[in-house]
Amino acid sequence: MTKDGALPKGFERPTVSASPNDSSVQEKYEEVKSSSKTITLRISKFNPEKDLRTAFHAFTVPYQRWTTVLDAILEVKSHQDHSIGVRYSCRQATCGSCGMIINGKPRLACFTKISELDSDVVTVEPMNNFPLIRDLAVGFERMFSTHKRIKPYVIREDSETNPGTKEFLQSPEDVEKYIQFASCIKCGLCNSACPTMTTDSTFIGPQGLAQAYRYVADNRDQGKDERLRIIDEPHGIWRCHFAGSCSQVCPKGVDPAMGIQLLRGYLLGYRK
Ligand code: SF4
Ligand code: FES
Repeated sequence: MTKDGALPKGFERPTVSASPNDSSVQEKYEEVKSSSKTITLRISKFNPEKDLRTAFHAFTVPYQRWTTVLDAILEVKSHQDHSIGVRYSCRQATCGSCGMIINGKPRLACFTKISELDSDVVTVEPMNNFPLIRDLAVGFERMFSTHKRIKPYVIREDSETNPGTKEFLQSPEDVEKYIQFASCIKCGLCNSACPTMTTDSTFIGPQGLAQAYRYVADNRDQGKDERLRIIDEPHGIWRCHFAGSCSQVCPKGVDPAMGIQLLRGYLLGYRK
């Protein structure tokens, strides 16, 4: 930037109005709307302050090949019903905030394109097995407290920061054992798909168990016995019936069902 605050030559930007009410923005929206195909978006709505039960509200929404379900919900929120409660942040399948049931399956709304669903009607509902806050937003407190309970960090008696301690080196093979489980974004889709969680609300769940495996399988960690004690309880690892639905819905390629089976190997003594 130059002394007087201007951008250097070649880096100037066109002036745009930030106001969402700007007529050119509205004209652009109308132009996109008229040139697009439309779907019927059915949104499950529930306001605990005034509703006794959830109800579906239907909206006609324009979409393009690249429009995501989250874009469509936000289009409705901006232009048709400002009251819709929806949680999102990154819009790039990274923060794990926008999980919901889309046409019957747990998915990330920002990672699901309308065009992929191959349907003129898209139905969005809050995730199962989570307490409903409002509309599409659910409470994550229990999942996060379970995640915390399994101690999701490398436990060691020594530390790389102590003088004289060497760096804890790992081979590619060592990393391979747990790396897929480190991709978890804590979106909760696996817990939402889990039939055991539907019948046992105190079950640790696939998210927590997959993270327990992630640290148990890390050869830098010395907290294996502690973690195995935490998951070896009546509502712990043995409640999994291996339905496998957790692994089918994970948007990051984590396989919690496999992690649970590998963890059982440690508890049964055929893995060290
Ligand atoms: S394991 Fe997959 S589905 Fe489950 S919380 Fe992590 S990223 Fe989401
Ligand atoms: S908005 Fe962050 S994962 Fe969808």
